[in-house]
Amino acid sequence: MTPEQAKARIDTLRKELHLHNYNYYVRSDTSFPDYQYDLMIKELQDLELQHPQYGDPNSPTNRVGSDLNLEFESFPHRIPMLSLGNTYSREELQEFDERVRKVTGDEVSYFCELKYDGVAVSLTYRDGSLWRALTRGDGTRGDDVTGNIRTIRSIPLKIHGEGYPAQFEIRGEVIIPIEDFREMNRRRSEMGEPVFANPRNTASGSLKMQNSLEAARRPLDCLFYNVASEQQIFDSHHESLEMARNWGFKVPPFNRLASSLAEVFQFIDHWESARDQLPFEIDGVVIKVDSIALQQELGFTAKTPRWAISYKYKAEQGLSRLNSIDFQVGRTGAVTPVANLEPVRLAGTVVKRASLHNADQVSLLDVRIGDHVFVEKGGEIIPKIVGVSMEHRDQGSVPFRFITHCPECGTLLERKEEEAAHYCPNANGCPPQIKGRIEHFISRKAMDINAAEATIDLLFREGLVRNAADLYNLQFDDLVHLERFAEKSARNLVHSIEASKQVPFQRVLFALGIRYVGETVARKLAEALGDLENLIAADQETLEAVDEIGERIAQSVIAYFRDPLNKSMVNRLKEAGLQFRIASAPVSLSKALEGKSFVISGVFEKHSREELKTMIELHGGRNSGSISAKTDFILAGTNMGPSKYDKALKLGITILSEDEFLSLIS
Ligand code: IVH
Repeated sequence: MTPEQAKARIDTLRKELHLHNYNYYVRSDTSFPDYQYDLMIKELQDLELQHPQYGDPNSPTNRVGSDLNLEFESFPHRIPMLSLGNTYSREELQEFDERVRKVTGDEVSYFCELKYDGVAVSLTYRDGSLWRALTRGDGTRGDDVTGNIRTIRSIPLKIHGEGYPAQFEIRGEVIIPIEDFREMNRRRSEMGEPVFANPRNTASGSLKMQNSLEAARRPLDCLFYNVASEQQIFDSHHESLEMARNWGFKVPPFNRLASSLAEVFQFIDHWESARDQLPFEIDGVVIKVDSIALQQELGFTAKTPRWAISYKYKAEQGLSRLNSIDFQVGRTGAVTPVANLEPVRLAGTVVKRASLHNADQVSLLDVRIGDHVFVEKGGEIIPKIVGVSMEHRDQGSVPFRFITHCPECGTLLERKEEEAAHYCPNANGCPPQIKGRIEHFISRKAMDINAAEATIDLLFREGLVRNAADLYNLQFDDLVHLERFAEKSARNLVHSIEASKQVPFQRVLFALGIRYVGETVARKLAEALGDLENLIAADQETLEAVDEIGERIAQSVIAYFRDPLNKSMVNRLKEAGLQFRIASAPVSLSKALEGKSFVISGVFEKHSREELKTMIELHGGRNSGSISAKTDFILAGTNMGPSKYDKALKLGITILSEDEFLSLIS
């Protein structure tokens, strides 16, 4: 293939891939087969690798993020990012309408939009390519979050269609859809990680992540509501959004033109009751004068446009009596206060329990037993208490005192400095922690042993099972006379336990319930270290060299295997015949890269980045996320960022191609 032919093929592939991304992430059309998409990405990666001169930061191959640290620089907004005047009252909307009509005469069309509850961003496109993405910042300057924004798959890196200005800004709200948010929290709690409080704060935190690989894992999306360019090419706001949609931006379909205030109120009423059915959270609606000429005539106050206003919905709240507070102890020992309420209807369901999160929240709200409390339901899985109605407070009420000892085992609770939760440290003697760990051990994605929660509870009460290893001592005769068991169920359980001995090492590792070791981390550890002995022997540095393993996970693994009770349980599991070795163990090691520090950047031809990281480590080298004076080599593929390249040159670090690296270790 000549360079010209390669260039043509690269262009075609990029164009088609941008289109498939748009169809998939913006139009939710999933008809194009995944494998074909993957083949095209692979072909493009290969071509970009062979022809680095045609590299482009907006290539679809760059959607995966980079694991080098981003430094947020701030830049001015060409057009300031103003906020909106807002109101909760219909009278004020009427006054807004009157002010508008005074300037515009009687005729005015309003464009009604939903007010997306997320984080504002402003994207600049030059010649049809995403050039820079800024946060709102203080309205005049914002932080450059382009690297993280690029990972949001519904955002076009290249504009579709035609007729776009040479340079324009488009503004929207980065959000996390409710279902994705719940799924993400479900996975986090499975890993023993703290769950996120709500989609908006999580979206905001994700945009400011230093590591765009991490941001790429968050289910971010972006909904657009404003196009601004120096050339005025639209007569009306609704046309500009229509055009933005044609260019490939996600503009939600719920907007409406209204020719009277009555129609505006209809829109408001409709979404006030239907907002629960939306896939994302809103906190109100935005009413905008549709004509751009009239917008210009109306102009701005110091902070807000005179042609738009937001009407905010009050969060759906219920008021109910707080009867008592329970404390739940999870498998990791975290203690969560839970309010028991007089049943109250809220957003279509009856709520009886609500989260109080932690001791800080309890004292911040100063909730007391017998208080009437406000309950809210947002994107959270469980409703939460957001305030106390002081007018209902009983004179004789007393401040609630957070417990000092575990409600289940009486142990003095601990609180780590950087964490909000209290923990019961009695991991090996506290019943809900023990049972929680066994339930996790037998769960479907772990050992897949067929036993209900009530069965585990029974086996625990009967003193037959105190940890996972005890399961493998259970005999048919131990079970058959127990209350929940008949011959068949006893035999089934024994069989299911026996069958679990074939479960592969990575799932056994996940089943152990080591804090922060979820399914993916367990697989990475199993693949990189091969067997239990290597894992137990691994020090902090060795563990951190494994892809995706950071300091926190490494420390947790080391602490787990240091504990004598864990050690003896794992030994018993091994003796029982569970799999503690990966099916194919890693190949021989050398010391070719001993003491050398590597940073990997870009896309490679022969091996994945994960494979390369493992190779470095198997040959005695170390992987690091960021370039510093301590870096010995940069292993560079295509699409290595220019700033990294400059930094490497400045520090005099040797840059290796994939082939040079391979010959170094061969
Ligand atoms: S228009 C000059 N439309 O609300 C006015 N804003 O309080 C530009 N927002 O910073 C804003 N949905 O982050 C507009 N449909 C929508 C919106 C919206 C959410 C946010 C945006 C803005 C804030 C203003």
